[in-house]
Amino acid sequence: MSGLNIKNKELVDMAKEAMKNSYSPYSDFKVGAALLSKDGKIYTGCNIENVAFGPSNCAERTAIFKAVSEGVLDFEAIAIVGGKSGIIEDFCPPCGVCRQVMSEFCESDFRIILGGKGDEIKEFCLGELLPESFGL
Ligand code: THU
Repeated sequence: MSGLNIKNKELVDMAKEAMKNSYSPYSDFKVGAALLSKDGKIYTGCNIENVAFGPSNCAERTAIFKAVSEGVLDFEAIAIVGGKSGIIEDFCPPCGVCRQVMSEFCESDFRIILGGKGDEIKEFCLGELLPESFGL
């Protein structure tokens, strides 16, 4: 299946499913992500916290690192959802660290799809969320 046939809502639904695996005993803020590669594969991720805080990992980076660790480097879009106790009350935009990691692997037209309350969906591209990014 081509990655282009996946609808935003389907990707958001997969992020919601991934959010259920969030390991977040310290913040109780659950985040899920679903990353779509250009060859149509989906890599999901959740946030994984740690008692020492520093080793914690965001959902977006979990998904990206899963894909990169399997040799996949070309990405189309990522859907992200999050909320306290897994209840989505608002959009959950990616943190600065995750935006920087996205910029390592993705072009400025990489789509960032945010799932909000109910069926609300907002879409940005990486160039909008990380303008004037650093590059060598
Ligand atoms: N978190 C993510 O998973 N992604 C983000 O982009 C922002 C924050 C997680 C980290 C931590 O486990 C929890 O949300 C509260 O900050």
